[in-house]
Order: sequence, then C-alpha cells, then structure tokens
Amino acid sequence: MPPTCIMGDGLPGPLLEMLGPDFEVLPWDDSPNSPALPRAEAIIAYGHPTVDGPLMDRAPQLKVISNHGVGVDHIDVAAANTRNIPVGNTPGCLDASTADLTMALILSVARNVLVGDRYARSPEFLHYDPAILIGQEVTGSTLGIVGMGRIGKQVARRAAGFEMQILYHNRNRDVEAETELDVQYRSFNELLAESDFVALNCPLTPETTGLIGAAQFELMKPSAILINMARGPVVETDALYDALSTGQIAAAGIDVTEPEPLPRGHRLLDLENLIITPHLGSASNRTRERMARMTVDNLIAGLRGEDLPYRVQRN
Ligand code: DGY
Repeated sequence: MPPTCIMGDGLPGPLLEMLGPDFEVLPWDDSPNSPALPRAEAIIAYGHPTVDGPLMDRAPQLKVISNHGVGVDHIDVAAANTRNIPVGNTPGCLDASTADLTMALILSVARNVLVGDRYARSPEFLHYDPAILIGQEVTGSTLGIVGMGRIGKQVARRAAGFEMQILYHNRNRDVEAETELDVQYRSFNELLAESDFVALNCPLTPETTGLIGAAQFELMKPSAILINMARGPVVETDALYDALSTGQIAAAGIDVTEPEPLPRGHRLLDLENLIITPHLGSASNRTRERMARMTVDNLIAGLRGEDLPYRVQRN
C-alpha cells in the first residue's frame, strides 16, 4: 500500500513521529498548479493556512481536515460540511496554557516587566530609584473577561488567586460560572467602563470582528490595560494605535495582531506601552504534545471514515 498523502507544512518532529511511516507529508501548496492538492487525502492545518471551499474542490481525494489548534476562523467549516469533509480541532487542551499567558501579559504590562528589563540592562541604570516605573497593582483590581468559555473560565480561576473582582461578558449569560467562579455578568459597555484590565478571550466570529474600536476605547478608563489573547481582527489596529499613543488607555498586551505578523516598521511596534508576543497562547511543552496527539487522532479517524474524536460542528 502506498503511504497516505497529507498536505501540511512545517509539522513538528513529535507530530511527525506520532504519524509514523504510513504517511507521505507533502509541503503546503495551494498554488494554481499544486501537485499536492490532487493527491492529498488529508490536510493538517498547521499555522493557520486558509482552507476554503475552492481549495477543497481542488483536492478530490480529501477525507478530513485536521486543525492543529482550537480556533478555526481560517477554515470554511460550512464549505467542508457541505462536501462531507469532517473538520477536527484541539479543544480543551490549551485552555490552561492560554490562560497562563493571559496572566503573564496582565502582570508584565501592569508592572513594566519589559521596560524594566530594558532599563536594567541599559547604561542608565546606575542606582536604585524607588520613584521609577511605578506600575498598576494587579492584586485587588477589576478584571473584565470578554468570552466566558473554557479559556475565560481558566483566566477567572487564576485571577481569583490575585483577589481580583471579576466581571465577564459573554453571548449567553452563564449562571453556573457565576456561582462556581464568583464572576459577575455585565453588559459589554458596562464591562469596558468598569474594568482595570479587559481580557479578550473570545473566538473570532463575524460578531467579534472589530469588537474593540474607537467607540469602545472611549468607554474604557484612561488607566485601563487591554489584553488580546483572542485573534487580531477582534481589535481594530488603527484604533488601538490611536488609543495607546494618545493615552486614551494606559497600555496593552497582545498575543495576536491584524495583520499577523505586523509588517516590520509598523507604527505599533514603536510604542513603549505595548507588549506584543508572537501568538504564543498555546506554546507550552505539554500543550503542544497534547495538540499534536489530538491532531493525529482526528486525522486517523477521518481517514478511516470514523467519527472524529474532536469534530468542529460549525464555523
Ligand atoms: C488556537 O488553538 O486557535 C491557537 O491560536 C493556535 O492555533
């Protein structure tokens, strides 16, 4: 039997090992004369390549699309459903690591960790000065979580350890979470107005695209810190620049940008009151291992015509 062809790019060693020798991995190629697409029986969407209906139509042997990650905004799941191609993803396994990085950004931005690091290494740091880089105290402040899904709940658990008052906004009110996690529901505008930290932990959907723009920054406190762990397009890039550069809000920490990456030389890259990480939400050793396992399990089930263990139901 010839090996099964998968199209996927830059797949990490552990994932390739889990696949074993029965698979031929073709480099990602969606060019008009791609030799890979007509042969591909499976796609591993690694690093968010666009997988849309026209691409699926050029892969007549395609039996499954296995996404390495939970967010599937780069995949047209409706188009896959109409073609009877199941789409798998990796829900749950990355909630803790993404919540950890949410807290890391909250703490780093609020307490000037990166600016402080640069200063401590610079020739200017010659004596200890208690008057410099006074940050905002995280303990006891108010956190507004946008998106009380699995990741939002993990953020709430961590924030409780910092004695934060936790507000949340979600498409649907979650009374169970309110009792279990001591979080309080607010309308979106109320949450923006009351929070010291606004953490975006929602998926990218048509409803959340451009969720934070000029009008929303106007509602936020001048001392507010915005954390974006969701997707770049949830925040309007130009409005973010304006809010940070004019002091409309104090600072931001973002793990995602629009576009991603930002073009080198982009004006956001010059701002001192902004920390940017390169989409590291799920980038921890144990999470990556679990993501690889789930990606491979979905792929194998799909090739066998079995139900995927983790199937995406809709976009
Ligand atoms: C996710 O799981 O959606 C992360 O962004 C990694 O792809």
